[in-house]
Formats: sequence, C-alpha cells, structure tokens
Amino acid sequence: MKLNYQFLSSCALLLFCALCPELHADSPLEKKMNQMRKSFRELKKAMVAPVEADKQKYLAWVADLKSATEASKALDPEKASHIPADQKGSFLEGYRNKMDELADEVDSLGKAIEAGKWDEAKALVGQINQVQREGHQKYRSESNEH
Ligand code: HEM
Repeated sequence: MKLNYQFLSSCALLLFCALCPELHADSPLEKKMNQMRKSFRELKKAMVAPVEADKQKYLAWVADLKSATEASKALDPEKASHIPADQKGSFLEGYRNKMDELADEVDSLGKAIEAGKWDEAKALVGQINQVQREGHQKYRSESNEH
C-alpha cells in the first residue's frame, strides 16, 4: 500500500512537470517577441534567394516586424523588475534605444527590398541578427532563456 502511494505521488509530480510549460502564460513582451520571431524567420529564409515577384510579401513581413518592434519598445522587460531602483531608469533607456536601433535597421531593410538591392538586404538581415543578439544578452533575464 505504502509503495502505491509513493508511486501515485511520483506520477502526480511527473504530470505537474509535464504541464508546467503549458501553465506559463506569455507576457505581453514575449507575445510581441514571438511575433517578431515569425516575421524575421520568414525574411531570413526569403533573403537566401529573393525574387522580385515576392517583394510585396517581403514588405508585409517587414511591416509586421516593425510594428512588433514599436510595440516592444513601449513594454518593460521582465529583467527590469530585478534592477535596483537607482539604475532602472538608465536600464530602460538603454533598452528603448536598442529597440530604436532595431527599428532603424528594419526601416533600412524595407528600403533595400523596395529598391531590389538584395545584397544590401542580406547584409541588413545579418545586422538585425546582431542587434537581436546584443539586445538579448543585455536585457533578457536568464530565466527567460527557454
Ligand atoms: C528581430 C529581432 C528579435 C527577435 C526575432 C526576437 C525574438 C525573441 C524571442 C523569440 C523571445 C522569447 C519569447 C518567449 O519567451 O516566449 C525573445 C525574448 C526577449 N527579447 Fe527579443 N527578439 C528580437 C530582438 C530583441 C531586442 C533588440 C531586444 C532588446 C532591446 C529584445 C529583448 C528581449 C527580451 C527582454 C526578452 C524576454 C522577454 C521579457 O523580458 O519579458 N529582443 N525575443
């Protein structure tokens, strides 16, 4: 009987752990970031072998990436809640500046696509990757890296 209880409680624990990721609701910023991931992933794939005929489709992804960037800029990263009060202002200012940098790169990407300057567009995709990496290194808390 005792063994049965132990077995059942182990099962309950396993079930709880399996459900944990489902129980985690995305924050508004995480939702925007996931929107960014989708449009940027499409752009990365498309810029490997871009075609003139699909320009409008690419520009729609650029517009989506830009609006998610702007919405993200207005939100605070989770990490801000762990920053001491006297440093929070400069932390958030740095975060919003980085989002402006991303928005500028995304604008340039739109212009390059519009003009059919594909080499430039490919280089900008690489630069956006770099801004993403830097933004995550500085403003994403380790607990958010799943
Ligand atoms: C194209 C560029 C970017 C893409 C595709 C992207 C994508 C993502 C993804 C997929 C997540 C995980 C979301 C989740 O956990 O559900 C994330 C999280 C996060 N990203 Fe980005 N990201 C980009 C640029 C940036 C930049 C430039 C910054 C900072 C200025 C930034 C700051 C963050 C933060 C702070 C989180 C954690 C969420 C939170 O704190 O609430 N990201 N990003």
